[in-house]
Amino acid sequence: MKITVIGSGYVGLTTALMFCELGNKVICMDKDKNKLENLRIGQIPIYEPGLENLLKKHLAKESIYFTSKIKSSVEGSDIIYITVGTPSKEDGSSDLRFVEEVAQSIGYYQNGPKIVVNKSTVPVGTGERVKEWIITSQRKPFQVSIVSNPEFLREGTALYDALHPDRIVIGSDHHSAASIVKDLFQSIDCPKIITKLRTAELIKYTANAFLAMKISFINEISRLCDSDGVEVSDISYGIGLDHRIGPAFLKAGIGWGGSCFPKDIASLIYMFEQAKIKPKILRAIQEVNEEQITYYIEQLKQRIGHIENKNISILGVSFKPNTDDIRESPSIKVMTILQKSGAKIKVYDPIAMKNLKDLLPDVTECKEYEELFLDSDCIFLLTEWKEFLNLDWKKAYKMMKNPVIIDGRNVLDYKRLKEIGFTYYGIGRVTD
Ligand code: UGA
Repeated sequence: MKITVIGSGYVGLTTALMFCELGNKVICMDKDKNKLENLRIGQIPIYEPGLENLLKKHLAKESIYFTSKIKSSVEGSDIIYITVGTPSKEDGSSDLRFVEEVAQSIGYYQNGPKIVVNKSTVPVGTGERVKEWIITSQRKPFQVSIVSNPEFLREGTALYDALHPDRIVIGSDHHSAASIVKDLFQSIDCPKIITKLRTAELIKYTANAFLAMKISFINEISRLCDSDGVEVSDISYGIGLDHRIGPAFLKAGIGWGGSCFPKDIASLIYMFEQAKIKPKILRAIQEVNEEQITYYIEQLKQRIGHIENKNISILGVSFKPNTDDIRESPSIKVMTILQKSGAKIKVYDPIAMKNLKDLLPDVTECKEYEELFLDSDCIFLLTEWKEFLNLDWKKAYKMMKNPVIIDGRNVLDYKRLKEIGFTYYGIGRVTD
């Protein structure tokens, strides 16, 4: 089968390579010629484990082809995936400008019946608008069937998630189009559900909101654990064994960030408001997440006193490990608050420092742990990169001015750190 994927960001690229792996030929279209030049020589613009190797493999097999030409991309396949960005507007709603632009081009260049599949996360009802945009741009009347096939890829494990999904959701009001898209995934063994178009769109938002809710929920509980002297990881384990609850997404810490949860929850709230329904739980999910950062800053103050002129060493910038994505990262939020309070910030991240200076020009980027720890009043871990787990803590202790560690992800071995002499804080951890 020949498939066109429009938009070569992390979702588009992962989707395209997944289809190559499943034995298809894929045309990958993007407007950014610079990005395409790199992709053609096997270089990807993001840090995503496994993606670059797979790209090289499929370039060599000539199963993937990159172009900036929308006309040939539309004409070249009967199935067109839309994987462009849908950023948040000020009011929380999704900016559908790029989706609209692509839909109009599909209509304009349509040369026969097409199945247009939306993989971008879009508000409920967008599929119908996409159809409208396509039809009103057509020069000749051709049939177009719209399908929603939402993505459930986590950054950092996107490729694995694409090839080993828990389920595949295919929403369409055209049964035959849904069946054709379902057949593309024939060799993947997982439940494949066919729904109405709008249902698939809402499944995507509901999944992300539910996952964020689990995290905010355990984070709220973790504050009570602090107050009552209870270990929060035991609570997560104790409730997670109940199959109705499940163990995932119950790790307490500094909270959720990234390019998906914050944007999608804001967009879902906007949908509720448009429907004149109060989004009570959704607002609470957001509020707990914001408060979690303030709560940590309070814990920090309790251990180092005032923040002004203190040297704070930040471990981790990305919103989670194994990605260079710093969008809505809790680490950026923490550093912004600390900087406003007059702290001197040094920071280290193994991968995600390249765009940091645009956001926080006054932080000192360190290349070595020695530089990061020297004269520090506190180490604040904000991303749980594996390499942070076994640092030379004895050396760090000797180099610091004030040996305090705030563990924003509850991953460090506090027993060892306390033996060395550190003052340690992890949320909801019983360290006495
Ligand atoms: C999320 C969803 O997990 C994907 O299924 C979805 O496809 C994707 O959004 C999307 O809409 O594109 P992602 O944002 O890559 O994926 O990252 P997650 O692994 O979900 O983590 C989100 C945030 O929650 C991170 O900041 C992470 O540190 C935090 N988190 C996660 C916790 O604080 N505790 C946990 O137990 C789990």
